[in-house]
Amino acid sequence: MIKELLKHAGEYMRYTILTPFIVALEVVIETMIPYITASLVDQGVIAADMGYIAICGSILVSMAIAGGTLGIFSGWSASKGSTGFAKNLMDGMYSNIQDFSFSNIDKFSPSSLVTRLTTDVMNIRQSYQMVSRLSVRCPLQLVFALAVTFSVNWKIGLIFLGIAPVLGVGLFFMIRFAYPVFMRVFKSYDKMNKVVRENVKGVRVVKSFNSQGEEIEKFDDASGDIYRNFSMGERVLALNGPLMQLCMNGTILLIAWFGANMIVSEEMTTGELTMMISYSMQILTSLMMFSMVLVMITMSRASAERVVEVLREKTDIVNPEEPIYEVANGDIEYKGVGFSYVADPNKQCMSDISFKIKSGEMVGVLGGTGSGKTTLVQLLPRLYDATSGEVIIAGHNVREYDIKTLRDNVSVVLQKNVLFSGTLRENMKWGNNDVTDEEIDEALRLSSSIDFTSTFKSGYDHHIEQGGSNLSGGQKQRLCIARAMIKNPKILILDDSTSAVDTRTDRNIKQALRTAKADVTKIIIAQRISSVIDADKIIVLDNGHINGIGTHEELMKNNLIYQEVYESQNKGGSDNE
Ligand SMILES: Nc1ncnc2c1ncn2[C@@H]1O[C@H](COP(=O)(O)OP(=O)(O)OP(=O)(O)O)[C@@H](O)[C@H]1O
Ligand SMILES: [Mg+2]
Repeated sequence: MIKELLKHAGEYMRYTILTPFIVALEVVIETMIPYITASLVDQGVIAADMGYIAICGSILVSMAIAGGTLGIFSGWSASKGSTGFAKNLMDGMYSNIQDFSFSNIDKFSPSSLVTRLTTDVMNIRQSYQMVSRLSVRCPLQLVFALAVTFSVNWKIGLIFLGIAPVLGVGLFFMIRFAYPVFMRVFKSYDKMNKVVRENVKGVRVVKSFNSQGEEIEKFDDASGDIYRNFSMGERVLALNGPLMQLCMNGTILLIAWFGANMIVSEEMTTGELTMMISYSMQILTSLMMFSMVLVMITMSRASAERVVEVLREKTDIVNPEEPIYEVANGDIEYKGVGFSYVADPNKQCMSDISFKIKSGEMVGVLGGTGSGKTTLVQLLPRLYDATSGEVIIAGHNVREYDIKTLRDNVSVVLQKNVLFSGTLRENMKWGNNDVTDEEIDEALRLSSSIDFTSTFKSGYDHHIEQGGSNLSGGQKQRLCIARAMIKNPKILILDDSTSAVDTRTDRNIKQALRTAKADVTKIIIAQRISSVIDADKIIVLDNGHINGIGTHEELMKNNLIYQEVYESQNKGGSDNE
């Protein structure tokens, strides 16, 4: 896992490698300071030699300045290395997410992807920075300080060896308890992000239903979870402080006690005692920092696992080895197609679907909500792959095509389609980057968008807000249709894309498509029979099965569901013309 993450350090690795070298120099200087201080006390202060004091004093000052400067440099290179690493990690995750198929996205949920891209990466960055600075400092300082202590007075050295296991056992138990708690914390972050995402996206619905109270409760519940888990984890980790204090004070007490006795029996000088106390501080501080590194690693291990999961996720829809780069025409054939969603593998969402559509035909798809209309058409551009059977376009299984070629030729206006913030022209360019103004103009005309886009003062530079929030529902739908047309596809699919458009405009769009896009296969999913009444054929879906296929006249004669829908829509006056 660590190897996989480190691959992303890339060009910033040099800073991470540089840091330990600077830190090592820092440590050498820091460990020499008490040694020189001891000699200043013994040979300068006690012998009252002012000249010696001045020399030692100036050495100490220069060492302190050098140490401080090195500290600044090591901090700089560690933070440069870690922020660069975090940036690359986010880039890596983001580009992998771009390749995700719809089922990959179903698996993670968008809110969890957001937490992983932000909070989790920041956690990893923090501990990476800490590790790059402290992983060398702690052991080096420990070894140096212990070596000097043992060489000067081995009895005092033994005190440290006695304290170390106490500290080790304490830390082991702390980390064991804290890890599962932090794993839960990140799950709670996912939950909170989900609530925020849902609420912010649907803020208008929330307001119109006056359900702010419930939403606040939901958020409270999610943030409460984070509070409980985080404070529990922190409580466990907070024991680190008292444990370190106990060890530190205990050591100083023992050194003072044994040291005083040794001074009395002239086994040790006063300077040596001050040196021992300084080293004991260094040894215990490095142990404390080491424990902090362990704690940080504990916290970020959970994050690292979640990040690696995203990096490792392979899209399940990949290009074939020798892809076909041309879609010859818009012929479609479904041969015994079955499908179930990964999230719900036991439920066969669609089974035994077989039909043929000739290039250029206009085909309607009708069926109750949840009958599988969206699922049916998503198999054509390989947003999902069929679980069984074959989906064939122009004589080849869709899996044989290059994915980009396939998606350029099968243009879908998704049921939940979105516009992006930017100008009208930028939005249209999503369909085709090289589109000319004339082509945009034609697409806007065919999708009946021109009536309202011609009123925009800044024309194609008119700014569209995120999600198209400064447009009406029907206007958004029409621009989405225009954007899909700009691709010049062989197959155009409109998934309930005119539901917010009045019947007359709906009819105009269909008429324009029929005449101007005569060679394009058009699949139109609709709730209203009036939208598909003059289609070449209409497919009636029921519970994932084909209930009937035929023209309006044929279905009126022999299809019960179709007749019922027709009756209800005409009697109920659902035709809103
Ligand atoms: N991403 C998904 N994961 C799991 N199940 C799903 C997913 N999307 C749809 N389903 C299920 O598949 C079935 C068919 O859904 P589909 O979206 O194809 O229906 P539909 O006919 O388009 O309905 P509507 O008219 O409401 O758009 C439903 O039972 C739905 O619950
Ligand atoms: Mg649908």
